[in-house]
Amino acid sequence: MENCCEKLQLNKEGGKVENSREKEHKKPFFANELWFREDEKELLQNKVITASVRVGDRTAETDDPKNGYREGRFIRIKIQKEDKEFDPWQTTVVVYAAEKKTLGEIEPADLEGTPLLPKTKAELVEKLKRLYGKDFTDSDVVTIVRFEYADDLNEAGDLIRTRTLAYAREPKSNLENLDFPAYTIPLIEHDYPAKTPVMWNAAYQEFGIDAGNIMLVGDPKQCGHILDVLRKDTKYKGGGAGTGFKDEVIPFLDEVEPLAKEIGAVNFIMKTSEGKSKGFNTDGLGYAQSLEEAFKKRNEKLVGKKVVVLGAGGAGNAIAFALAEKGMQVSILNRTKDKAVNLAERINKYFGEQRAYGGGRDEIKGKIFDADVIIAVIDDPKSPLESYAAFSDITLPPTEENIKKNIDEAASILKELPRGVIISDIMIRKNPTATLREARNAGFEILDGIPMVINQGVEAFWLLYGKELQARNITKEQVAEVMKRAASS
Ligand SMILES: NC(=O)c1ccc[n+]([C@@H]2O[C@H](COP(=O)([O-])OP(=O)(O)OC[C@H]3O[C@@H](n4cnc5c(N)ncnc54)[C@H](OP(=O)(O)O)[C@@H]3O)[C@@H](O)[C@H]2O)c1
Repeated sequence: MENCCEKLQLNKEGGKVENSREKEHKKPFFANELWFREDEKELLQNKVITASVRVGDRTAETDDPKNGYREGRFIRIKIQKEDKEFDPWQTTVVVYAAEKKTLGEIEPADLEGTPLLPKTKAELVEKLKRLYGKDFTDSDVVTIVRFEYADDLNEAGDLIRTRTLAYAREPKSNLENLDFPAYTIPLIEHDYPAKTPVMWNAAYQEFGIDAGNIMLVGDPKQCGHILDVLRKDTKYKGGGAGTGFKDEVIPFLDEVEPLAKEIGAVNFIMKTSEGKSKGFNTDGLGYAQSLEEAFKKRNEKLVGKKVVVLGAGGAGNAIAFALAEKGMQVSILNRTKDKAVNLAERINKYFGEQRAYGGGRDEIKGKIFDADVIIAVIDDPKSPLESYAAFSDITLPPTEENIKKNIDEAASILKELPRGVIISDIMIRKNPTATLREARNAGFEILDGIPMVINQGVEAFWLLYGKELQARNITKEQVAEVMKRAASS
């Protein structure tokens, strides 16, 4: 336990991150190891030790250069031998509490689970003196780190108890208990008013499925450990993988459907009857269906139509693949041109023919005047991109002047654009984005992201319960109807 020689490695992947730019600046980093001494190995192997006292402030908020222990974080327990080498035995635990106290505040209960014998403050002070070769006083700060052994975690409730996951508060109708015979668990990185719980719980109720949909928030960097536990949980049937989790989960799934693998993102995980986790991507298909519905109203089909996809991030990948699969001619234009070029290459390789083109945003005017559909698939958690029209120049920072320039340019583009073009933006905001607002005001047909949310949810629900519902003569359209009603409630 209180090992003065502990050297912790930086975990540069710690913290909730929104994108790679934020990742670089995210502080503090978190400790990802806890070292013990050789004579404590047996106690660890027998899971007798469940806490450790570290010198200094080692909580997650610390600015200690050795970094802090964060609640809900899985870390490695290692044994450092007398010769400073590491014992080959190690195990994984999850830290569920890290509390800073002065030695003067330490009570006997604080020392429960530590390897101290006897578990008294006097023995702690004596041990610290032995290890550090100096005296400690009542004003010295220590951190009590409490943990559970990872292989003892067997169900979703354990992940909540250890603070690895937390109930999402913002989605309507999200259930804050796991007291169901079965559940689906969408995982998200940041709490937001997602529609999934209200849609899925309405469908569970309507079709008499005794299950709950419980959206939980967690750190995608821990998804390997999270999935290990959920795989063991017999009540867990699967669930969504939200932004942040979509690509991170892939290496930890037992199987990934080929299209999702090619897209590089999974938005739905299903537990198979053999207890394996299988990843799917229903995002792109969900969008393609919403566009199909829009063209159906015009008695037209998607095949052969020209679409410009503005953006090549996670959703851009899924949508571009799905629209290419529907036979559309897809031009992907992205701020980072290489990503669009690479995406187009992957699409063409996957379908074995030229269905996609990739370029930079400087090609927008060269492509949109010839398009049947323009879709905005851009976002940046640090900039209010919803204030800009996606098809005209986006100059940051978002000053009044820069936004006005963008909107003025959008107005002149819209004047020139053929009337029949459908303009779409999947970014979901309380008010219509500038892309949709300007297009609608100029008389264009618009398509927002809500039908995509509903369609991808219906597809995912059908993957999980389709057979069972079909046997009861319940159709996918009925599921869609219920989810649609719930999403707009
Ligand atoms: N309605 C639905 O069902 C649904 C489903 C999924 C996603 N979404 C929404 O779709 C949006 C995109 O999600 P995502 O997962 O694809 O995000 P992402 O992976 O972070 O991709 C963001 C995209 O925006 C571009 N971008 C960022 N800042 C830009 C700027 N200043 N100018 C021009 N382009 C910029 C990025 O270009 P670079 O490559 O150059 O960085 C990238 O192409 C989000 O609002 C998300 O909530 C909706």
